[in-house]
Amino acid sequence: MRLIVAVDGPGGAGKSTVSRLLARRLGAAHLDTGAFYRAATLAVLEAGADPEDEASVLEAIDGRTIDQVDGRTLLDGRDVSKEIRSEEVTGAVSTVSAHSELRRRLVEAQRQWVRRAGDRAVVEGRDIGTVVFPDADLKVFLDADPAVRAARRSGEIGSAVSEVKAALDRRDRLDSTRPTSPLRPAPDAVVIDTTHLGIDEVVDHITGLLTQA
Ligand code: DC
Repeated sequence: MRLIVAVDGPGGAGKSTVSRLLARRLGAAHLDTGAFYRAATLAVLEAGADPEDEASVLEAIDGRTIDQVDGRTLLDGRDVSKEIRSEEVTGAVSTVSAHSELRRRLVEAQRQWVRRAGDRAVVEGRDIGTVVFPDADLKVFLDADPAVRAARRSGEIGSAVSEVKAALDRRDRLDSTRPTSPLRPAPDAVVIDTTHLGIDEVVDHITGLLTQA
């Protein structure tokens, strides 16, 4: 039976861990759409293209394939799961992902991925409830205090909290103010503030929402 759960929100709000655990609990696939934008950004950087220039960005990704298999991200079949978390990719991904034609292509690839997964998936990103799956069975928007989000990310990647906070603030600003598919909750999304919640509490809460739906 079809079950699509959209999990949107800014970086460090807990989307990835929550989505992975939720998918496992539901026996559904898990798609991290941020990894698609990161893999496209890696392709742009590898080609030496200008991330600001949409024509160069499209040329750089033309003919390249992005996929996710068992939680690993593949670019033309090569496992780039680590490379896409580099500082260079993180610094350029919001610029690359603001281009509307690039988004159109990646959104199509994401929809096809979910179709191949039998339409049973927890899909995390920025625009899942608003654009990719506006008809999702449940939409949640995870948010948290910016200082707490920065502290979580800093713990994951081992960089100073102040640096991580500045980079997250910049990405939040770019992602929320771009004209195409800005980061914002869908009108029918359930907003969950994870500042004071543990991962299991968030997953339990979402599972509860699904049984009520
Ligand atoms: O979830 P993440 O931090 O790995 O996402 C990296 C970037 O990708 C994020 O700053 C904006 C972009 N992104 C997007 O524009 N739309 C999505 N659905 C997911 C991510």
